Amino acid sequence: MAAKQGMALVQRDDDGVDRAFREDVLAGLAQAQKAVPARWLYDDAGSQLFEDITRLPEYYPTRAETEILTERGAEFARLIGRARAVVEFGSGSSVKTPLLLSAIEPAAYVPLDIAGDFLRAAAAELSAKFPGLPVYPVEADFMRRVELPAAVAGMPKLGFFPGSTIGNMVARTAVDLLRTMRATLGEGSQLLIGMDLIKDPKILTAAYDDAAGVTAEFNLNLARRINRELDGDIPIDALSHEARWVDDYARIEMHLVARRDITLTVSGKRFALKKGESIHTENSHKFNRRTGNMLLLAGGWTPAKRWLDREGRFSLVLADATIPRSAP
Ligand code: AVI
Repeated sequence: MAAKQGMALVQRDDDGVDRAFREDVLAGLAQAQKAVPARWLYDDAGSQLFEDITRLPEYYPTRAETEILTERGAEFARLIGRARAVVEFGSGSSVKTPLLLSAIEPAAYVPLDIAGDFLRAAAAELSAKFPGLPVYPVEADFMRRVELPAAVAGMPKLGFFPGSTIGNMVARTAVDLLRTMRATLGEGSQLLIGMDLIKDPKILTAAYDDAAGVTAEFNLNLARRINRELDGDIPIDALSHEARWVDDYARIEMHLVARRDITLTVSGKRFALKKGESIHTENSHKFNRRTGNMLLLAGGWTPAKRWLDREGRFSLVLADATIPRSAP
Protein backbone atom coordinates (compact mmCIF):
# COMPACT_ATOMS: atom_id res chain seq x y z
CA MET A 1 0.00 0.00 0.00
CA ALA A 2 1.05 3.61 -0.45
CA ALA A 3 1.30 3.32 3.23
CA LYS A 4 3.54 6.18 4.13
CA GLN A 5 2.54 9.78 4.06
CA GLY A 6 4.64 11.72 1.57
CA MET A 7 5.98 15.14 2.38
CA ALA A 8 6.13 16.81 -1.02
CA LEU A 9 2.55 16.04 -2.06
CA VAL A 10 1.02 16.92 1.32
CA GLN A 11 -0.66 20.32 1.74
CA ARG A 12 -0.26 21.75 5.21
CA ASP A 13 -1.87 24.65 7.05
CA ASP A 14 0.24 27.41 8.60
CA ASP A 15 0.11 25.41 11.84
CA GLY A 16 1.59 22.36 10.04
CA VAL A 17 -1.64 20.32 9.97
CA ASP A 18 -2.23 18.05 6.98
CA ARG A 19 -5.38 19.59 5.49
CA ALA A 20 -6.70 16.45 3.85
CA PHE A 21 -6.31 14.53 7.13
CA ARG A 22 -8.32 17.14 9.05
CA GLU A 23 -11.02 17.33 6.38
CA ASP A 24 -11.38 13.54 6.22
CA VAL A 25 -11.54 13.16 10.01
CA LEU A 26 -14.01 16.00 10.58
CA ALA A 27 -16.28 14.84 7.74
CA GLY A 28 -16.02 11.19 8.84
CA LEU A 29 -16.83 11.89 12.50
CA ALA A 30 -19.90 13.90 11.48
CA GLN A 31 -21.50 10.86 9.75
CA ALA A 32 -24.14 8.64 11.35
CA GLN A 33 -21.70 5.69 11.11
CA LYS A 34 -18.46 7.43 12.00
CA ALA A 35 -15.59 6.52 9.68
CA VAL A 36 -12.04 7.63 8.90
CA PRO A 37 -10.41 6.57 5.59
CA ALA A 38 -7.94 3.72 6.14
CA ARG A 39 -5.04 5.55 4.48
CA TRP A 40 -4.65 7.65 7.65
CA LEU A 41 -3.66 4.52 9.59
CA TYR A 42 -0.18 4.82 8.06
CA ASP A 43 1.84 7.50 9.80
CA ASP A 44 5.37 6.40 10.80
CA ALA A 45 4.11 4.53 13.87
CA GLY A 46 1.26 2.94 11.88
CA SER A 47 3.59 1.87 9.05
CA GLN A 48 5.92 0.25 11.60
CA LEU A 49 2.97 -1.52 13.26
CA PHE A 50 1.82 -2.78 9.86
CA GLU A 51 5.32 -4.22 9.27
CA ASP A 52 4.97 -5.98 12.64
CA ILE A 53 1.54 -7.31 11.60
CA THR A 54 3.03 -8.96 8.50
CA ARG A 55 5.18 -11.15 10.78
CA LEU A 56 2.36 -12.25 13.13
CA PRO A 57 1.49 -15.96 13.21
CA GLU A 58 -2.21 -15.17 12.54
CA TYR A 59 -1.55 -12.79 9.61
CA TYR A 60 -1.06 -15.26 6.75
CA PRO A 61 -1.33 -12.99 3.62
CA THR A 62 2.30 -11.84 3.51
CA ARG A 63 3.71 -15.34 4.01
CA ALA A 64 1.25 -16.90 1.56
CA GLU A 65 1.98 -14.36 -1.20
CA THR A 66 5.74 -14.67 -0.61
CA GLU A 67 5.42 -18.43 -0.96
CA ILE A 68 3.74 -18.01 -4.38
CA LEU A 69 6.39 -15.52 -5.52
CA THR A 70 9.16 -17.85 -4.37
CA GLU A 71 7.79 -21.02 -5.93
CA ARG A 72 6.25 -19.86 -9.21
CA GLY A 73 9.18 -17.88 -10.62
CA ALA A 74 9.62 -20.13 -13.64
CA GLU A 75 5.94 -19.73 -14.59
CA PHE A 76 6.13 -15.93 -14.19
CA ALA A 77 9.16 -15.90 -16.50
CA ARG A 78 7.30 -17.97 -19.11
CA LEU A 79 4.02 -16.01 -19.02
CA ILE A 80 5.42 -12.51 -18.51
CA GLY A 81 8.67 -12.91 -20.42
CA ARG A 82 11.72 -10.72 -20.18
CA ALA A 83 12.28 -7.09 -21.24
CA ARG A 84 9.17 -5.68 -19.58
CA ALA A 85 9.36 -2.61 -17.40
CA VAL A 86 7.96 -3.53 -13.97
CA VAL A 87 5.84 -0.68 -12.58
CA GLU A 88 5.14 -1.21 -8.89
CA PHE A 89 2.17 0.62 -7.37
CA GLY A 90 3.73 1.46 -3.99
CA SER A 91 7.48 1.25 -3.28
CA GLY A 92 9.05 -2.19 -3.35
CA SER A 93 8.51 -3.99 -0.10
CA SER A 94 11.55 -5.69 1.34
CA VAL A 95 11.08 -9.28 0.14
CA LYS A 96 8.40 -9.49 -2.54
CA THR A 97 9.81 -7.21 -5.24
CA PRO A 98 13.27 -8.86 -5.44
CA LEU A 99 11.56 -12.25 -5.81
CA LEU A 100 9.62 -11.03 -8.85
CA LEU A 101 12.56 -9.15 -10.36
CA SER A 102 14.87 -12.18 -10.03
CA ALA A 103 12.28 -14.40 -11.69
CA ILE A 104 11.49 -12.29 -14.75
CA GLU A 105 14.68 -10.24 -15.29
CA PRO A 106 12.89 -7.08 -16.43
CA ALA A 107 14.35 -4.28 -18.56
CA ALA A 108 13.59 -1.60 -15.95
CA TYR A 109 11.90 -1.10 -12.60
CA VAL A 110 9.64 1.89 -11.88
CA PRO A 111 8.38 2.17 -8.28
CA LEU A 112 5.53 4.69 -7.80
CA ASP A 113 4.86 6.08 -4.34
CA ILE A 114 3.40 9.18 -2.77
CA ALA A 115 6.05 9.13 -0.02
CA GLY A 116 9.19 10.53 -1.67
CA ASP A 117 11.70 9.76 1.12
CA PHE A 118 10.51 6.22 1.49
CA LEU A 119 10.46 5.79 -2.31
CA ARG A 120 14.04 6.93 -2.78
CA ALA A 121 15.31 4.72 0.05
CA ALA A 122 13.50 1.67 -1.35
CA ALA A 123 14.76 2.43 -4.88
CA ALA A 124 18.37 2.74 -3.66
CA GLU A 125 18.08 -0.57 -1.84
CA LEU A 126 16.73 -2.25 -4.97
CA SER A 127 19.48 -0.77 -7.16
CA ALA A 128 22.11 -2.16 -4.80
CA LYS A 129 20.55 -5.64 -5.08
CA PHE A 130 20.19 -5.49 -8.88
CA PRO A 131 23.21 -3.49 -10.11
CA GLY A 132 22.45 -3.87 -13.85
CA LEU A 133 18.78 -2.91 -13.59
CA PRO A 134 17.73 0.65 -14.49
CA VAL A 135 15.51 1.96 -11.64
CA TYR A 136 13.34 5.05 -12.18
CA PRO A 137 11.46 6.03 -9.00
CA VAL A 138 8.44 8.30 -9.57
CA GLU A 139 6.93 10.29 -6.69
CA ALA A 140 3.24 10.25 -7.50
CA ASP A 141 -0.25 9.43 -6.30
CA PHE A 142 -1.02 6.30 -8.29
CA MET A 143 -4.75 6.71 -7.69
CA ARG A 144 -4.42 9.15 -10.62
CA ARG A 145 -2.94 8.44 -14.06
CA VAL A 146 0.86 8.72 -13.85
CA GLU A 147 3.19 9.87 -16.66
CA LEU A 148 5.91 7.20 -16.74
CA PRO A 149 9.57 8.13 -17.43
CA ALA A 150 10.42 8.54 -21.14
CA ALA A 151 13.11 5.84 -20.77
CA VAL A 152 10.44 3.13 -20.43
CA ALA A 153 8.03 4.54 -23.03
CA GLY A 154 8.82 1.90 -25.66
CA MET A 155 8.85 -1.07 -23.29
CA PRO A 156 5.88 -3.34 -22.57
CA LYS A 157 4.83 -2.94 -18.94
CA LEU A 158 4.00 -5.24 -16.06
CA GLY A 159 2.08 -3.56 -13.23
CA PHE A 160 2.76 -5.10 -9.80
CA PHE A 161 0.28 -4.55 -6.97
CA PRO A 162 0.93 -7.13 -4.23
CA GLY A 163 -0.44 -7.47 -0.71
CA SER A 164 -4.17 -7.46 -1.57
CA THR A 165 -4.18 -3.70 -1.05
CA ILE A 166 -6.93 -3.66 -3.70
CA GLY A 167 -9.09 -5.23 -0.96
CA ASN A 168 -8.78 -2.09 1.16
CA MET A 169 -10.94 -0.24 -1.37
CA VAL A 170 -14.70 -0.42 -1.82
CA ALA A 171 -15.62 -1.85 -5.24
CA ARG A 172 -16.19 1.51 -6.90
CA THR A 173 -12.78 2.84 -5.85
CA ALA A 174 -11.09 -0.46 -6.72
CA VAL A 175 -12.57 -0.35 -10.25
CA ASP A 176 -11.48 3.29 -10.65
CA LEU A 177 -7.95 2.35 -9.59
CA LEU A 178 -7.76 -0.66 -11.94
CA ARG A 179 -8.87 1.53 -14.83
CA THR A 180 -6.35 4.21 -13.85
CA MET A 181 -3.59 1.57 -13.70
CA ARG A 182 -4.54 0.47 -17.20
CA ALA A 183 -4.31 4.08 -18.41
CA THR A 184 -0.90 4.48 -16.71
CA LEU A 185 0.49 1.22 -18.13
CA GLY A 186 -1.02 1.33 -21.62
CA GLU A 187 -2.28 -1.19 -24.16
CA GLY A 188 -0.59 -4.58 -24.17
CA SER A 189 0.41 -4.30 -20.51
CA GLN A 190 -0.01 -6.96 -17.86
CA LEU A 191 -0.89 -6.71 -14.19
CA LEU A 192 0.23 -9.05 -11.39
CA ILE A 193 -2.07 -8.43 -8.44
CA GLY A 194 -2.46 -10.01 -5.00
CA MET A 195 -6.03 -10.83 -3.91
CA ASP A 196 -6.75 -12.36 -0.53
CA LEU A 197 -9.37 -15.13 -0.49
CA ILE A 198 -12.66 -15.66 1.34
CA LYS A 199 -12.21 -18.30 4.01
CA ASP A 200 -13.40 -19.43 7.44
CA PRO A 201 -14.35 -16.20 9.27
CA LYS A 202 -12.51 -17.51 12.37
CA ILE A 203 -9.22 -17.50 10.45
CA LEU A 204 -10.01 -14.06 9.03
CA THR A 205 -10.98 -12.43 12.29
CA ALA A 206 -7.90 -13.88 14.01
CA ALA A 207 -5.71 -12.38 11.25
CA TYR A 208 -7.18 -8.94 12.07
CA ASP A 209 -7.41 -9.39 15.85
CA ASP A 210 -4.21 -11.14 16.84
CA ALA A 211 -3.50 -12.51 20.29
CA ALA A 212 -0.52 -10.20 20.86
CA GLY A 213 -2.71 -7.13 20.24
CA VAL A 214 -0.54 -5.65 17.47
CA THR A 215 -3.51 -5.04 15.14
CA ALA A 216 -5.37 -3.44 18.05
CA GLU A 217 -2.41 -1.07 18.52
CA PHE A 218 -2.38 -0.37 14.76
CA ASN A 219 -6.06 0.59 14.90
CA LEU A 220 -5.79 2.60 18.14
CA ASN A 221 -2.79 4.45 16.71
CA LEU A 222 -5.23 6.24 14.40
CA ALA A 223 -7.00 7.75 17.43
CA ARG A 224 -3.61 8.64 18.93
CA ARG A 225 -2.63 10.27 15.64
CA ILE A 226 -5.83 12.32 15.60
CA ASN A 227 -5.07 13.49 19.16
CA ARG A 228 -1.47 14.33 18.25
CA GLU A 229 -1.95 16.04 14.90
CA LEU A 230 -5.46 17.47 15.10
CA ASP A 231 -5.49 18.70 18.68
CA GLY A 232 -7.85 15.91 19.72
CA ASP A 233 -8.83 14.60 23.14
CA ILE A 234 -10.14 11.15 22.26
CA PRO A 235 -10.02 9.01 25.43
CA ILE A 236 -7.98 6.13 24.04
CA ASP A 237 -8.73 3.87 27.02
CA ALA A 238 -12.45 4.15 26.22
CA LEU A 239 -12.00 2.55 22.77
CA SER A 240 -11.67 -1.14 21.86
CA HIS A 241 -10.38 -2.61 18.64
CA GLU A 242 -12.85 -4.86 16.83
CA ALA A 243 -12.45 -6.91 13.64
CA ARG A 244 -15.84 -7.89 12.14
CA TRP A 245 -16.50 -10.27 9.27
CA VAL A 246 -19.32 -8.79 7.14
CA ASP A 247 -20.46 -11.63 4.96
CA ASP A 248 -22.70 -9.61 2.59
CA TYR A 249 -19.69 -7.60 1.44
CA ALA A 250 -17.10 -10.36 1.96
CA ARG A 251 -14.94 -8.10 4.05
CA ILE A 252 -13.28 -7.66 7.41
CA GLU A 253 -14.12 -4.30 8.92
CA MET A 254 -11.95 -2.73 11.60
CA HIS A 255 -13.76 -0.56 14.12
CA LEU A 256 -12.86 1.43 17.21
CA VAL A 257 -15.78 0.75 19.54
CA ALA A 258 -16.72 3.01 22.48
CA ARG A 259 -16.69 1.06 25.78
CA ARG A 260 -18.83 3.78 27.39
CA ASP A 261 -20.58 7.00 26.30
CA ILE A 262 -17.88 9.47 25.32
CA THR A 263 -17.56 13.00 24.00
CA LEU A 264 -14.49 14.18 22.15
CA THR A 265 -13.08 17.26 20.49
CA VAL A 266 -11.04 17.34 17.29
CA SER A 267 -9.72 20.63 15.85
CA GLY A 268 -12.22 22.49 18.06
CA LYS A 269 -15.27 20.43 16.91
CA ARG A 270 -17.20 18.27 19.38
CA PHE A 271 -18.49 14.77 18.71
CA ALA A 272 -20.13 12.08 20.79
CA LEU A 273 -20.24 8.27 20.73
CA LYS A 274 -22.72 6.23 22.71
CA LYS A 275 -21.46 3.04 24.37
CA GLY A 276 -21.20 0.38 21.60
CA GLU A 277 -21.05 2.96 18.77
CA SER A 278 -17.95 2.84 16.63
CA ILE A 279 -15.58 4.60 14.27
CA HIS A 280 -15.11 2.44 11.16
CA THR A 281 -11.42 2.57 10.22
CA GLU A 282 -10.75 -0.04 7.51
CA ASN A 283 -12.28 -2.50 5.06
CA SER A 284 -10.33 -5.51 3.87
CA HIS A 285 -12.31 -7.24 1.12
CA LYS A 286 -11.74 -10.91 0.36
CA PHE A 287 -12.39 -12.57 -2.99
CA ASN A 288 -13.10 -15.86 -4.66
CA ARG A 289 -12.27 -16.76 -8.25
CA ARG A 290 -15.51 -15.31 -9.62
CA THR A 291 -15.65 -12.09 -7.62
CA GLY A 292 -11.93 -11.46 -8.21
CA ASN A 293 -12.36 -12.01 -11.95
CA MET A 294 -15.44 -9.78 -12.04
CA LEU A 295 -13.58 -6.95 -10.32
CA LEU A 296 -10.63 -7.21 -12.72
CA LEU A 297 -12.91 -7.33 -15.76
CA ALA A 298 -14.83 -4.29 -14.53
CA GLY A 299 -11.50 -2.50 -14.27
CA GLY A 300 -10.50 -3.35 -17.85
CA TRP A 301 -8.25 -6.35 -17.11
CA THR A 302 -8.72 -9.89 -18.43
CA PRO A 303 -7.53 -12.54 -15.95
CA ALA A 304 -5.06 -14.90 -17.60
CA LYS A 305 -3.60 -17.02 -14.79
CA ARG A 306 -4.21 -17.45 -11.08
CA TRP A 307 -1.85 -18.97 -8.52
CA LEU A 308 -2.71 -19.97 -4.93
CA ASP A 309 -0.40 -20.77 -2.03
CA ARG A 310 -0.29 -24.42 -0.88
CA GLU A 311 -3.00 -23.90 1.76
CA GLY A 312 -5.26 -22.04 -0.72
CA ARG A 313 -5.46 -18.90 1.41
CA PHE A 314 -4.24 -16.21 -1.00
CA SER A 315 -4.17 -15.64 -4.76
CA LEU A 316 -1.85 -13.88 -7.15
CA VAL A 317 -3.51 -13.11 -10.48
CA LEU A 318 -1.92 -12.24 -13.81
CA ALA A 319 -4.22 -10.18 -16.05
CA ASP A 320 -3.94 -8.61 -19.49
CA ALA A 321 -4.97 -5.18 -20.72
CA THR A 322 -6.71 -6.66 -23.72
CA ILE A 323 -8.58 -4.43 -26.11
CA PRO A 324 -12.27 -4.94 -25.34
CA ARG A 325 -14.03 -6.64 -28.24
CA SER A 326 -17.64 -5.91 -28.98
CA ALA A 327 -19.86 -8.53 -27.44
CA PRO A 328 -23.55 -8.96 -26.80
C1 AVI B 1 -2.42 -3.22 3.68
N1 AVI B 1 -3.54 -4.15 3.74
C2 AVI B 1 -3.55 -5.06 2.58
C3 AVI B 1 -3.71 -4.84 5.03
C4 AVI B 1 -4.92 -5.79 4.98
O1 AVI B 1 -4.73 -6.97 5.25
O2 AVI B 1 -6.02 -5.36 4.63
C5 AVI B 1 -3.89 -3.84 6.15
C6 AVI B 1 -4.15 -4.47 7.47
N2 AVI B 1 -5.05 -4.07 8.34
C7 AVI B 1 -5.02 -4.80 9.42
N3 AVI B 1 -4.13 -5.76 9.24
C8 AVI B 1 -3.55 -5.55 8.06
